[in-house]
Amino acid sequence: MNKLLVSLLLTLGVSAAAHAADAIVGDAKAGQAKTAVCGACHGPDGNSAAPNFPKLAGQGERYLLKQIHDIKGGKRQVLEMTGILDNLSEQDIADIAAYFASQKMSVGAADPKLVDAGEALFRGGKVEQGMPACTGCHSPNGAGNAAAGFPHLGGQHATYVAKQLTDFREGNRSNDGDTMVMRAIAAKLSNKDVAAVSSYIQGLH
Ligand code: HEC
Ligand code: HEC
Repeated sequence: MNKLLVSLLLTLGVSAAAHAADAIVGDAKAGQAKTAVCGACHGPDGNSAAPNFPKLAGQGERYLLKQIHDIKGGKRQVLEMTGILDNLSEQDIADIAAYFASQKMSVGAADPKLVDAGEALFRGGKVEQGMPACTGCHSPNGAGNAAAGFPHLGGQHATYVAKQLTDFREGNRSNDGDTMVMRAIAAKLSNKDVAAVSSYIQGLH
């Protein structure tokens, strides 16, 4: 592992400990009934049809909880979701996260023309620029690391992934913590890199 990755993981580990006190336990069954409004965009089981709506199925519970709280509190801006989270209690949020986490993310296909470049970035990073491989945190098959809160990427819509990487790079998404882990990584990605790695991720499983 390279030095940058080790130091990022250490810093993230510290913030992980700070969140360990999440006490409310989610109930996936109760959560299903609370996701009717979400399903219109994210799909009833969390596998959305439209490529600009992220798949939530099989996403790590801890990551889902963080994003729902960040969106609700305005730390991450999602205009489409304005008002939708306002009346949810902490128990509702926990149940909803447990439900989507219990589903399975569907897998798409990578563009054959982009797959080699995408795979090289995902598995190798950009050593000469000190950019770590994505595998270190998001795992070799893209499953992420649910306990650490590193999101599941494998199978996610390329359109959505590309928007996130661009948003991190341009500072339009800045909820990746004080370490700016994803902003630092996205800063090293060209538009071509973003297209290639996003396409690769869509077919990854
Ligand atoms: C009108 C459409 C719409 C509805 C309804 C909606 N969302 Fe979303 N949601 C979005 C869009 C669009 C994004 C991604 C925005 C972006 O590009 O950053 C998103 C992002 C998210 C994310 C972040 C996913 C990730 O991978 O980081 C979570 C979690 C989420 N929504 C949960 C919910 C929940 C829970 C509900 C129901 C209570 C809900 N959404 C209802 C459109 C919607
Ligand atoms: C050191 C760990 C680490 C490395 C390496 C890493 N990521 Fe991430 N990534 C994260 C964390 C943590 C988040 C969640 C940030 C947050 O809480 O919003 C994230 C979020 C993301 C998201 C948003 C997911 C979503 O559903 O919205 C994408 C896309 C992503 N990373 C892609 C990549 C790619 C592509 C690479 C390699 C070029 C990479 N990451 C390397 C830790 C990492």
